[in-house]
Amino acid sequence: MSAKKSQSSGVTGRDSFTSSFGVLVALAGSAVGLGNLWRFPYLVGENGGAAFIFIYIVFVFILCLPIMYSEFIIGRRSQKNVFGAFKVLAPGSKWGIVGIFSVLSALCILSFYSVVGGWSIEYLAKAITFDFTRGSEANLDTMFGDFVSSPIKPLVWHVVFLLLTALVVIAGIKKGIERYTKMMMPLLFLMIIVIAVRSVTLEGAKEGITYLFKPDFSKVTFDTLLSALGQAFFSLSIGCGTIMTYASYVSKSENIVKMSALTAVADTTFAIIAGCAIMPAVFAFGISPGEGPGLVFITLPKIFAQMPLGGILAIVFFFILLIAALTSSISLLEVVVAYLKEEFKMKRTTAVIIGSSIFLVTGCLASLSMGVLSDVKIFGKTFFDLFDTLSSDFFLTTCGLLVVLFVGWRLGKANVMDELTNSGTLKLPKWFTEMTFFIIRFVAPATILVIMIFG
Ligand code: PFF
Repeated sequence: MSAKKSQSSGVTGRDSFTSSFGVLVALAGSAVGLGNLWRFPYLVGENGGAAFIFIYIVFVFILCLPIMYSEFIIGRRSQKNVFGAFKVLAPGSKWGIVGIFSVLSALCILSFYSVVGGWSIEYLAKAITFDFTRGSEANLDTMFGDFVSSPIKPLVWHVVFLLLTALVVIAGIKKGIERYTKMMMPLLFLMIIVIAVRSVTLEGAKEGITYLFKPDFSKVTFDTLLSALGQAFFSLSIGCGTIMTYASYVSKSENIVKMSALTAVADTTFAIIAGCAIMPAVFAFGISPGEGPGLVFITLPKIFAQMPLGGILAIVFFFILLIAALTSSISLLEVVVAYLKEEFKMKRTTAVIIGSSIFLVTGCLASLSMGVLSDVKIFGKTFFDLFDTLSSDFFLTTCGLLVVLFVGWRLGKANVMDELTNSGTLKLPKWFTEMTFFIIRFVAPATILVIMIFG
């Protein structure tokens, strides 16, 4: 796409993105993350291959895009952080609670995300020193468990990961987030394509390709629909304020519809390529596929150990994991930083230090819950699982619901149309804007409520 210059929002004096490409890579950076690499490929394989991909794409483009526009509308119209936005758009109301929930949502996700980010640094270091190819298979089985349950090393890497995140965010939108995501995102796509090409050309890769793409509608159940929708929310970074926050730095001349659609296309494309990078290799080596940390930190190292050129590919893969986690965590930290900075009148540097210190503590709890704190449970869950469950099962959906209710019922049709069409300067088909508003007002809240009740 063209690197069209955005007008900087000089009126408000806020830092802002300088080009359409900058906005796109930042949003795609937030969306592309661990969800694409360790969850999407497995969900596809287990839920009917192409049948799942089809359902997922329908959810993303019919339901989730209008929710994304809603977050975009709130952020760009108000040009404020997730809490301040509601003070501008609905003064004197209680809608600010959506902002608080968004901050808490970001807090829960980053608390475990930064721990996994730390693990990916350790595994990148192991890959660089060819640890996987040197060790025996039995070693690789225990390596991960030994590492995450040890008290010091994961904490150190967690701190390093947070530091990297903070360094980007401290530099601001233009000079930090936009600048670094512009470098990292194209590299990320290039590298995952390299691994995918190697994986699908392995002998025996066909079984993995069949696992991913053979349509099997008999595997589609109500649970499949719930999984697809939950994954779509998490993967597109809906419901935790990142889109609202990034949108507040986007110029009034940017096309919200196009930008959101491109983000969804980039995220879904990356997820499918990640599937092609991982599953054919897993099957080629006769290993049964799993998901989550086990897939990435146990199964894949075993495969790299046996694969021709595996040592090099392991370095590329763990670098991808690190970058994907980093571009997502940057967006999460920015939600909290923008909130602290504007609502408590802090300097950016102070807000980053305070925000990161909070994550330092919550992340340490999550990390230690894999070892010394594994017996400490809240509502029957360790800290790591608690942050994960709270965000996925409560905050993301609740914030998503409140956002569409706010935009559909409180902000109202005239304001929504005004934002979608940039005050009438963009000519969008009437059926499209009408349908979008209908989804925001009725379909999206109803569907989210169904997930919350049955999910
Ligand atoms: N979209 C990220 C992923 O798929 O891993 C996770 C995520 C990042 C969720 C940022 C929410 C967010 F604000």
